[in-house]
Amino acid sequence: MNNVIELLKSHTSVRKFKEKMIDDQLLKEIIQASQYASTSNHVQAYTIIRVNDQDKKRTLAKLSGNQPYVEECPVFLVFCADLNRLEKACSINNETIESSSTEIFIMATVDTALIAQNIMIAAESAGLGGVYIGGIRNNPQDVCDLLQIPHHVYPVFGMCLGYPEKINATKPRLPLSLILKEDIYSTDGDEKHLKEYDDLISNYYKERTNNKRSNTWTEGITAFLKEKQRPHMKEFLHSKGFEMK
Ligand SMILES: Cc1cc2nc3c(=O)[nH]c(=O)nc-3n(C[C@H](O)[C@H](O)[C@H](O)COP(=O)(O)O)c2cc1C
Repeated sequence: MNNVIELLKSHTSVRKFKEKMIDDQLLKEIIQASQYASTSNHVQAYTIIRVNDQDKKRTLAKLSGNQPYVEECPVFLVFCADLNRLEKACSINNETIESSSTEIFIMATVDTALIAQNIMIAAESAGLGGVYIGGIRNNPQDVCDLLQIPHHVYPVFGMCLGYPEKINATKPRLPLSLILKEDIYSTDGDEKHLKEYDDLISNYYKERTNNKRSNTWTEGITAFLKEKQRPHMKEFLHSKGFEMK
C-alpha cells in the first residue's frame, strides 16, 4: 500500500483540537495545493472564507446547531459555491451569466466539494485533522448576513481544522460489493450485504469508547431520512440566485 492510500484509509473526523495554531504558511500551502482539484470546465466555482473573528466563530457554532468545535477549532473555513466571480468574468467580456440552470448549481457545488476534500486530505497529510460542518446550512441566510456572502454565492458547508487532541477509531465503510457495480446497476445480494454491514457497524458503535450506541446503520439512516432535511434550502437557494431551472 502506498502512503496516500494508507492516509485515505485512516481518515476519521476530528472534533477535539489542541490549542496549537496552524502555521499560516502551511494552511496557505494546503489550500493552494488543493486548488489543483479537477474543476468543471476550469470554472473554479468556489470561494473559501476563513473565519478568524472569535465572535463570528461563536455565532457560527450556534447557527450550526450548537457545535462547540466550530468555535474551538484553530481554523474554521466556510466553503461557498460561487457564481459571483463568474458573473464578473462574463461582464468583463460584455456578456451576462446564464445562471438559472440546475446544471450550473450542480457544477458549482461539486467543484466546492472537490477542493474541500483535497483540503481535508492535504491537512491530514500534514498531521492535522478536521470535520465538515453541514450544520451551517441550518441557518444559511444568517450565515450569509454574518459573512457578507453576496448574491450568486451560497455556503455549502464549513470545515474545522486543527491538530487533533483525540483521534477516533475509523468508522467501517459499506462493503465494496454494495458501492461498486460491474457493467450494470445490479442490486443482487444488497440486502444480505446490508445486514452484514449492520452487524459490523453495531459492533463498532458498541465497542467505541465515545458516544457508545447500539443501533445499526440502516436504523440510523432510517431515523435520519424519514424526516425532511433542511426544507428551507430550496427557497434559500432561489433567493441567492440559484434558480435550478
Ligand atoms: C458535507 C458533510 C457535512 C457534515 N456535517 C457535519 C456536522 O455538521 N457536524 C459533525 O459533527 N459532522 C459532520 N460531518 C461529518 C460526518 O458525520 C462524518 O464524516 C461521518 O459520520 C463519517 O465519519 P468519519 O468522517 O469520522 O469517518 C459532515 C460530513 C460531510 C461530508
